[in-house]
Formats: sequence, C-alpha cells, structure tokens
Amino acid sequence: GKVVLAFSGGLDTSICVPLLKEHYGYDEVITVAVDVGQPPEDIQKATEKGELIGDKHYTIDIKDRFVEEQLFPSIKANGSYEGYPMGTALARPLIAEEISKIAKAEGANTVAHGCTGKGNDQLRFDFIFRKEGLEIIAPMREMNLTREWEMDYAEQHNIPVPVVKDKPYSIDENCWSRSIEGGVLENPSTHPTNDIYAWTVSAQDAPDTPEEITLEFEKGIPVAINGNRMKGIDLIMELNKIAGRNGVGRNDMIEDRILGLKAREIYEHPAATVLLKAHADLERLVLSRQELAFKNIVDDKWSELGYMGLIHEPLFAALSAFVDKTQERVSGNVDLILYKGSVTVAGRDSPNSLYSDDLVSFESTTIDQNDAVGFSAYYGFQARLLK
Ligand code: ARG
Ligand code: SIN
Repeated sequence: GKVVLAFSGGLDTSICVPLLKEHYGYDEVITVAVDVGQPPEDIQKATEKGELIGDKHYTIDIKDRFVEEQLFPSIKANGSYEGYPMGTALARPLIAEEISKIAKAEGANTVAHGCTGKGNDQLRFDFIFRKEGLEIIAPMREMNLTREWEMDYAEQHNIPVPVVKDKPYSIDENCWSRSIEGGVLENPSTHPTNDIYAWTVSAQDAPDTPEEITLEFEKGIPVAINGNRMKGIDLIMELNKIAGRNGVGRNDMIEDRILGLKAREIYEHPAATVLLKAHADLERLVLSRQELAFKNIVDDKWSELGYMGLIHEPLFAALSAFVDKTQERVSGNVDLILYKGSVTVAGRDSPNSLYSDDLVSFESTTIDQNDAVGFSAYYGFQARLLK
C-alpha cells in the first residue's frame, strides 16, 4: 500500500521512511515537504533527501497562503500564547491540509507524521487529517520512541540526520518563528549556548548604533518597511534580517502544552516581535477604549484556538470577523528603534487617530478645565463614605 508522509528532513520524519516499510509494511512512501518560509537551504535539503530516501517526493510552496491566511490574521489579533508570538501552531493546520490534498490525489487513504505523543503538533495535525477522513500513522507516538533510539536506527539504515547525540535538538521553523527544544535544554535551569540560535545575534554582539525603521500598516496588515512596499512574505523575511541583526526576538520560556505538560521552549521570532509590537501600538492610537478592552478578550480567545490548531472551530471564524471589523481603521505608520535586543516604539501616526492634541495639550484652552470640577465632585464618592 501507499502512505503519504509529512516530511521535513529532520530526525523523526527521516526515520519514518524505513519504519513505514519495515514496521508497518508499506511498499510506497510518498514524502511531502511544505514550504512555509523555512530558510531556502532547509527546503532544498528536505527536497533532496525526500527524493533520495522516499519513493516519490513533493515540495509544495504555500508561503503566500500561510502569510495571508494565518500570519496576517494573527497580526490583526495580536496572536500570542503565554506571551510569545505563535508560529508552529499557525503553520500545522495548513501543512496538514496540503498533505491531505496530495494523499487524495495519490489515492492514498493513510497519512503519516513524525510528531511525538507528548506535544501539541500531533493534535493540530490529527484534527485536520481526521476532518479529511484520512487514517493516521504516527510512528514516534505508537512505538513510544526516544530520540536516542531514533539516532541509532538512522545510523543502522544509513540515513543522514541533522542531529548528533550531544545536540539532539528538535527544531521547527517557518517564516514567523523558529523553535528549539530537546537535549540539554530539557533541563530548564541549563543556560542555552549561543550556537542554538540561527536568526538572531546576542544582544551583546548586536551593533552599538540603534537602527530606526518605519512600518506602514493598512487595515491591520503590514505593507511597507521604510516606505518600500513589499508583499507579505518578503516583508517578513526582510524584517527577520533587520530585527535579527539587532538581537531582537529571542525568547526562553516555560510553556504549558495542550496536554498539560510544561515544556522548556526557546524561540526566535524577530519579525513577529517587531510587527506585533508596532501593530498593538497603532491600535492604541485608533481604537476606542471600549474596543481595546473588548478586543483584548477576543484576541486571547483567538490565540487560544490558534494555539490548539482548531482553525475550523466555528468560534474561530466568528472571532476573526470581529477582529476584521476592528481592523478597518488600523492604518498608519509606526517608527521603531531596534537596539541591542530591544525594540521600542518611537512615534506613530494615522489618518484615523482618535488622539487630539488640541484637546489633551497642556497648552490648549479648547476644553474648559472647569468642566471637570463637577465630575470630580462625584468621583470616588462611595469610597469616601466608607467608615
Ligand atoms: N511549543 C511550540 C508549539 O507548540 C513549538 C513546537 C515545536 N514543534 C516541533 N516539532 N519542534 O507551537
Ligand atoms: C513533538 O512532540 O512532536 C514536538 C513538540 C510539540 O508538538 O509540541
């Protein structure tokens, strides 16, 4: 029979190929790598490896779809989970949808993935695969494998893998974020060494001169850097470089997974850090106090569903409709300063601003300050009557 494997070229998915044959008895393993903006070298490597070890290989480029359907909405909703910009979570459902399309075109009713039974990705993938009516094989989970065992198995089968026993990191990348976990990092008190990072320099190694940039947004979506209009994926890639060279976007945290396990996760998300900061700042200029307070709740719920990969949950569409409505006015420019690991907003402007310097200025007499006296007389009145 035939099986279609979600393939990245990493340790887990590489050994899935011989496992699906030897252990599960398939005679045709079709590998599929999905390009969601990983570094081009990594896509190249996954493609070559899939062609080498699989029976048939596909590399599918969905960068634009990923940006338009998942990343732009996530910017609009200030998408973050436990304080970091979600990345892996947003890519998984689309990857699974692309794999499903290929399985159907190939006449295969079974798909396979390399997720463990301990993480979030299994749930995000399985949700889509089950929705598409496909059978699922997850060798790592079903055979209860360890990475140590996997490395030995790869060696016995002459399968080159990108990890070695003293650095057995599990890395997931898309243009929005790079996550690093496993190995010595599993001890949350162990300090990460600089060599685990690929997109960012340390704050110490960043230039001593601040770099200033201007981001332009239209209806909640970033459209230009320093006045140069770019399509989404190019803007994100460019911003990853700019912020990364200034040491912006590193994050080392303890995360609560869906299953309840706490995990030590390290992330790099330079462009996401800057874009989310700028976007949230612009919202503060153009949205009303009521909108901001309510949108916070919606953003949290949107992010929770996004983290869970439940993009077809009907509430997700309803929340997204609310978010889109609020974003109609979120247009304007935000100036930011990147400097040795930090990003600071330096200025902002918008044609839809609800800010009036004429009203708020200490130098202006447009508002008669005496109007506040009556308001103030009632203010805090119950607390004042407390005995
Ligand atoms: N903890 C993050 C998440 O749940 C990152 C997962 C990384 N996945 C991986 N296969 N290494 O989105
Ligand atoms: C995995 O367990 O397969 C990776 C980590 C995760 O899914 O959270």
